Amino acid sequence: MAMDSAGGPQRDTWGSKAAFVLAAAGSAVGLGNIWGFPTVAGQNGGAAFLAIYLLAVLLIGAPVMLAELIVGRHTQKNPVGAFKAIMPGSLWSLVGALGVLTGLVILSFYTVIAGWTLAYILKTAMGVFGPGADTAAIFAEVSGSPVSAIGWHALFAGITIAVVVKGVRDGIERWTKILMPVLFGLLVLLAIRAVTLSGAGDGLAFYLKPDFSQITGSVVLAAVGQAFFSLSLGMGAMITYGSYVSKKDDLVSSAGWVTGFDTTIAILAGLIIFPTLFHAGLEPGAGGPGMVFVVLTSLLSSIPPDPYGGIIFGTGFFVLLAIAALTSSVSLLEVCTSWGVDEKGWTRKKAAVMLGGVAFVIGVPSALANGAVGWLSNIPGVGMDFLSFMFLLFGQYSLVIGALLISLFVAWVWGVNAAGDEVRASGKGFALAGAWGFLIRFLCPLAILILLVQLVSSLF
Ligand code: PHE
Repeated sequence: MAMDSAGGPQRDTWGSKAAFVLAAAGSAVGLGNIWGFPTVAGQNGGAAFLAIYLLAVLLIGAPVMLAELIVGRHTQKNPVGAFKAIMPGSLWSLVGALGVLTGLVILSFYTVIAGWTLAYILKTAMGVFGPGADTAAIFAEVSGSPVSAIGWHALFAGITIAVVVKGVRDGIERWTKILMPVLFGLLVLLAIRAVTLSGAGDGLAFYLKPDFSQITGSVVLAAVGQAFFSLSLGMGAMITYGSYVSKKDDLVSSAGWVTGFDTTIAILAGLIIFPTLFHAGLEPGAGGPGMVFVVLTSLLSSIPPDPYGGIIFGTGFFVLLAIAALTSSVSLLEVCTSWGVDEKGWTRKKAAVMLGGVAFVIGVPSALANGAVGWLSNIPGVGMDFLSFMFLLFGQYSLVIGALLISLFVAWVWGVNAAGDEVRASGKGFALAGAWGFLIRFLCPLAILILLVQLVSSLF
C-alpha cells in the first residue's frame, strides 16, 4: 500500500473525527453532569438510581445517540430539515420542531444556572468559602436577589449569543481539548478529597450500595430522562452535530467515546457530592437546584493549605464548569439558530440574537424561582420551583418523547437497513448492527412507551 495514499486521507479522517468527538463531548458534558446528575440521583435514592442510570445510558442512550448521528450525517441538515429530507411532506418534521422548541426552553433555564457559576467564580476567588462559611446563605444571596439572578443570567445568555453569532466555535473547541482533561483531573482530585472526609462512608454507601426496593417507575423514568439530558439527546443536538461529521468517520466509535466520557464525568460528580453531603450532615433529596452549589462549596474549606487550597481549587473548578456549560449552551442555541437560518432564511446573526433573546426572556421566571419571588419558588399545586418544573417538563419529559419519536422514525419509518448503510459508508463495517437494530427497534421505544404510559396513568 502506498504510504501517501494511505497516510494522507487517514490523517485527515482522524483529525476531523477528533474535532467532532470534542465538539459533541463539549455539548454533552456540562451542568447536566455536575449539577443535574447528583441532584436527580439524590432525589431518586442514590445507588439504585446510579445502577438504572448506567443501564439506561448503555441500552437506551447510546443507541439513540447513534441514531441521531446517523440522521445528521445522512441528511447534513438541522433537525427540521433532516426529517423533511428523509420523509418529504410528512408530519415528521414536527419532531424536529419540537426539538427546536425544547432547545429554546432548556437554554432559558440553563443560562440561569450557568449564571450562578459565573457568580461563584468571583465568590471563590474572593475566598468567601473559608471554614464556617454558611454556604446555603451564600447561595440564597446569589440566586435569591433579583438583580444578581437576572444579571448573571443575562451575562451568560449574552456570552452564548456572542459565541454563536461570531462562530468562534473553532476557538472554543481548541480550548475544550485542553480544558476537558483539566476538568477531569480536577474532578478526580476533588473526589479523592471528598471520599477521605469523615463520614464519607455513609455517602459512598448511599451512592454505591443499591437498595433495589427503591426502584419505581418514576425512578426509571428519571434515569432515562437524565441520560438523555446529559447526553444531549432527544432534541436534535446530535443530529445537528452529526451533520458536520465526515463520511469517513466511524459513527459507532464516535458515539461510544462521547457516551463514555460524559458518563464518567457524571459518576465522578456523584463521588464528590454524596460523601461531602453526608459529611456535612445534609439530606440528599432536599435542596433543589441549589444543592450542588451548597454542597460543593462546603468542601472547599477542607482543602489544604487553608485558605489557598480552597481558593485555587474552587476558582479553577467554577471557571471550568462555566466553560463546560458554555460549550453546552452554545450547542442548544446552535440547534435553534441553524433552524432559523435554514428554514426561515434569517441571517446567522439575526437568528442567534432573536432566539437567544427569546430564551433569555423565557428564563426570567426561572431566574426568579430560587427565593426572589415566592410563588415561583414554590408553585402552588406543583410542589416545586419554576426552574425545577421547566427542567422536568423540557429537560426530561420532552427529551424522552423526542427520543421516542426519533427512534421510531429511524427504526420503522426510514428503516434500520438504510440507517445501517450510512454507518457502513465509512468503510469500517458495522459489527454491532444486529444489537443496535434490536435496541432501536424494540427495546428503546417499548421501554420509553411503558414509562410514559405509567407516568400519565399516575397523574390520574
Ligand atoms: N448535555 C448538556 C449538559 O449535560 C445539556 C444539553 C441538553 C445540551 C440537550 C444540548 C442538548 O449539560
